[in-house]
Amino acid sequence: MDEQLVFFNGQILPLSQVRISPDDRGFNFADGVYEVLRFYKGQLFFASQHLERLKRSLAELKINYPEVNAVNNIIENLLEVNNLQQTDGLAYIQITRGDFPRIHQFPPANTPPTVYINVKEWKAFDLTKSQSIKAITFSDMRWGRCDIKSIALLPNIMSFQNALEHGAGEAIFIRDGVITEGSRTNIFGVKNGIVYTHPFSNSILPGITRQIVLDICEKENLKVLLFPIAESAISSFDEFFLTGTSPEISGICQINALKIGNGETGPITRFLQQEFEKLKAK
Ligand SMILES: Cc1ncc(COP(=O)(O)O)c(C=O)c1O
Repeated sequence: MDEQLVFFNGQILPLSQVRISPDDRGFNFADGVYEVLRFYKGQLFFASQHLERLKRSLAELKINYPEVNAVNNIIENLLEVNNLQQTDGLAYIQITRGDFPRIHQFPPANTPPTVYINVKEWKAFDLTKSQSIKAITFSDMRWGRCDIKSIALLPNIMSFQNALEHGAGEAIFIRDGVITEGSRTNIFGVKNGIVYTHPFSNSILPGITRQIVLDICEKENLKVLLFPIAESAISSFDEFFLTGTSPEISGICQINALKIGNGETGPITRFLQQEFEKLKAK
């Protein structure tokens, strides 16, 4: 297999040639942002929405990357040079505040950001059938700006690892008695035909897949309540599902010891999965 070609600080080069400084702000402080997007058969999926979110994350952290608008072109270039133009996969973008000897204050304004982009083949598990995943709840110990897609993900990886060690596929964060989101996904519940999810706030990432689902609901006249689900109300819900760029839409069959519905992906979740498949095929 040919070596993966990646973008690093203005150049396309083999992955093994990338050298990141130990003074990189990402290495020292997790001082950076990232973005993940999908391509299906080589076509970028909701690329402008991902780019807008990336710009927002950069702006919120005051990281200056003037060439940000070129990111989608770079990804398309990488698809070409890696021969992935007919493939399903993931693109990963990471931008840090650059390489500068370790000090807490921002480095001088002319310090270039470190920019890394890769693309790779990746297929979601086929969860559109009856498969669904187990989840556990986990205390949401993240900072107060979960709306920024920052590379500082320690609580996310600790909780996700904990889920795996308990035989589950996702950790659902609980903050102040309500579900915020998952460690790498947004969480939805369905009760009496109404779809619930946490409203946009600093407590959740504004998931692109979350928004796609909300748009499908609006188009298909499914009632939505942007209202946080209390942990104590979980047992009263008929369905739960998660959304994310990598897992797309996946049913949740169990939360902790509690079986959800009949333990299979529920009918509204399946309907949303089918509608999502149509968007992918477009
Ligand atoms: C904490 C968190 N919430 C939600 C999501 C889902 O967002 P998206 O649908 O844009 O992938 C992610 C994705 O990485 C995430 O890390």
